[in-house]
Amino acid sequence: MVAFGRLAVAGLAASAEALLLLSFPDIFNSVPKLAESPKIISTFPNQDERPIPGNSPIIQCDAQTPQLLDLQKVVIDPNPPAKGQNLTFVAEGVLKQSITDGAYVEVDVRYGFIRLIHQTYDLCEEVHNVDLECPIKKGAQTILKQVAIPEEVPPGKYLVVARAYTKEDVLITCLTASVEFPPN
Ligand SMILES: *[C@@H]1O[C@H](CO)[C@@H](O)[C@H](O)[C@H]1NC(C)=O
Repeated sequence: MVAFGRLAVAGLAASAEALLLLSFPDIFNSVPKLAESPKIISTFPNQDERPIPGNSPIIQCDAQTPQLLDLQKVVIDPNPPAKGQNLTFVAEGVLKQSITDGAYVEVDVRYGFIRLIHQTYDLCEEVHNVDLECPIKKGAQTILKQVAIPEEVPPGKYLVVARAYTKEDVLITCLTASVEFPPN
């Protein structure tokens, strides 16, 4: 999730950021250097998970809990992500209410059995990475971001969970993604 251009608008920034921007850079820098082309792992949706239309490995979690962001489509290109190439990420969704200062996102990243990242980020600070600014207005939002995938991606299975909340602890979105970069 660490590192991906130019956003038109967005309320998806929080999770998109968490899932894409944070992940790639930090994660790849946290694990041994190796490399191969990644493969996306299919996840069987359970009752509390909802696949998001598009071609990305991102799934909505805590789906039975009301969420302020209705993520309608996420498209990544190329799919699956390729090492040494730019990954373009486009997300479309509708925010039921504006996101203001004080919103935060809890991010959990696992690499195999290792917990790489377990941290809370200030949402309004992080959305600058996707060219957004708080308050993020309610209504339709689109995020477009390009991220460079490092040539040397440590192989292995990555599991990312991001939950974004308003200052009042109302759930904005819960997103999870599982991606595997196989060894040679
Ligand atoms: C990725 O994007 C950057 C900036 O647009 C560009 O300079 C670079 O050549 C691109 N890399 C690849 C592999 O396409």
